[in-house]
Amino acid sequence: MKALTWQGKRSVSVKDVPDPVIQERTDAIVRITSTAICGSDLHLYEVLGPYMHKGDVIGHEPMGIVEEVGHGITNLRTGDRVVIPFNISCGHCYMCRQGLQSQCETTQVRGKGSGAALFGYSELYGSVPGGQAQYLRVPHADYGPVKIGQELPDERYLFLSDILPTAWQGVEYADVAPGGTLAVLGLGPVGQFAVRIGAVRGLRILGVDPVPERREMAARHGAETVDYSDTLAAELRELTDGRGPDAVLDAVGMEAHGSPAAGFAHQALGLLPDKLAQKAMETAGVDRLAALHTAIDAVRRGGTVSLSGVYGGQASPMPLLSMFDKQIQLRMGQCNVRRWTDELLPFLEDDADPLGVMDLVTHRGTLDEAPALYEKFQKKEDGCIKVVLRPWG
Ligand SMILES: NC(=O)c1ccc[n+]([C@@H]2O[C@H](COP(=O)([O-])OP(=O)(O)OC[C@H]3O[C@@H](n4cnc5c(N)ncnc54)[C@H](O)[C@@H]3O)[C@@H](O)[C@H]2O)c1
Ligand SMILES: [Zn+2]
Ligand SMILES: [Zn+2]
Repeated sequence: MKALTWQGKRSVSVKDVPDPVIQERTDAIVRITSTAICGSDLHLYEVLGPYMHKGDVIGHEPMGIVEEVGHGITNLRTGDRVVIPFNISCGHCYMCRQGLQSQCETTQVRGKGSGAALFGYSELYGSVPGGQAQYLRVPHADYGPVKIGQELPDERYLFLSDILPTAWQGVEYADVAPGGTLAVLGLGPVGQFAVRIGAVRGLRILGVDPVPERREMAARHGAETVDYSDTLAAELRELTDGRGPDAVLDAVGMEAHGSPAAGFAHQALGLLPDKLAQKAMETAGVDRLAALHTAIDAVRRGGTVSLSGVYGGQASPMPLLSMFDKQIQLRMGQCNVRRWTDELLPFLEDDADPLGVMDLVTHRGTLDEAPALYEKFQKKEDGCIKVVLRPWG
């Protein structure tokens, strides 16, 4: 089959690789009809490079048709249409039973000190082959895949794999009371959905991003928008009676603009051999924390900072004085996808499309076009906001 593989820093290419086969009795093989590129893939493209191996198949936002199932599968049959959550979880361990599927104790990558295994997401998350490919082996398919109807187009359902539940969890964790204000930093795909989810819940939404077309999209879905600047926290306070938003959701993560020193550290990291670069990533705290620091500065006293954006590094400096003095609550983590999917399905099947899932994708292409589309998405060129690949053309 054809699959998109990681080849090196900022380099991905399509290769012929062996078709996946059933290995465990709870596996399924899915023929992928649509698969999206995520902002998280951009971390592999750059900072997580030291944890990648040449030839790794990437991608974690897939859906498709069940091709084959293992003997232990009773919930799925050949021909079923499914969306595959990006975290691999068992559904019955202690963590899964608490709705913490991203910490699944059956699939935790203990050797790396990581939570649940993820599709296509480096050795930190189990080196599991990903879904930007023609076929995908899905472990724990007796629990993970979300079965959907046959009628509506792929893009009505696709974002259930990751960004929609991620945004949903981010807004849940932000925990803003009705009538309150939620600021969303970063209006990439995750931020876009956070805006819409906040808006349907009746919150006032302030959406921040340096990219004009991303602000325009957020404005179409109910946000008051603000450009990124050095005085952002002060501007957000000004818009909220001098107090700051009740919660700030950071949908930026470690690719943030606005931290030149860390940008330099990232460059340096790219020049080190992998083992040293891993060490530096784990201990030296090379993160770009601009968005997170803005969130902490901007949020009102007693408010909540909800991190959907992915951060790495162990020695990241945090403004503990302000955090303690302002009595801030901080909630974060990889999305527990399966926890939210049942609640989200009715929104996707509603003809009125209340979350506007049909107004997000700006670029579509084949696997062969993926390398160029990765570059376009990373550089935010040509109005690129969300890319969907169709592995069978
Ligand atoms: N927690 C999870 O389970 C989970 C799941 C999916 C994605 N993510 C993470 O969410 C983040 C966003 O993902 P995405 O797909 O929307 O990616 P994206 O890269 O398209 O979006 C990031 C946006 O932030 C903007 N931005 C950059 N610096 C900023 C700053 N200082 N202030 C305000 N905005 C700034 C960029 O212009 C961009 O629009 C990434 O870190 C991704 O890894 C987390
Ligand atoms: Zn993702
Ligand atoms: Zn589990």
